Amino acid sequence: MTPASRARRRLAAAIATGALFTSSVAKAVDVPAAGDRSPHVNYMLSCQGCHLPDGSGQAGRVPNLRGEVGKFLWVDGGREYLVQVPGTATSKLSDAETAELLNWLVKTMGPPPPQAFRAYVPSEVSQLRRQWLRNPGELRAQLIARLRADRRFDTPPNTVR
Ligand code: HEC
Repeated sequence: MTPASRARRRLAAAIATGALFTSSVAKAVDVPAAGDRSPHVNYMLSCQGCHLPDGSGQAGRVPNLRGEVGKFLWVDGGREYLVQVPGTATSKLSDAETAELLNWLVKTMGPPPPQAFRAYVPSEVSQLRRQWLRNPGELRAQLIARLRADRRFDTPPNTVR
């Protein structure tokens, strides 16, 4: 048998058993499993409804994250705050997805965190989100006061809210 006729036979056998059909269908419906979604997609699914696609938020209601969210990482308690704020802590995303999303968010929105900053890890998210903030405004105000005193940034995280 020539290689070409062997290939034809294999093709005929595959069609007969339906193998080709199933594999092409499997490809057509190949949506990623929950853990495979990119942080950007998770942001679109869980966060942008309030924070908007570009992170700019809604005046008077939802803080702008762009060029702002990373500032919190420069003061004590800020790292925890970004996990414990209700939007982050109470989403449907897993601990691993949330850690990845926060790392992506800080990098994408900026400003850059201190050099000593270490990426969020799932076990940390797991622990912190259990104690999510029922009254985030209180801690937020304290952190902003700390940032004001620190004077590292011209403006503390946004004044929108
Ligand atoms: C229902 C609207 C809503 C959704 C959905 C939401 N957030 Fe928020 N987010 C807010 C509001 C409002 C604040 C200000 C603090 C507060 O009052 O909760 C905030 C604050 C934050 C902060 C702190 C920034 C600051 O300036 O205080 C981070 C970080 C954050 N959200 C991340 C996320 C992430 C990540 C998601 C998605 C997993 C998300 N949020 C989903 C409304 C939302």
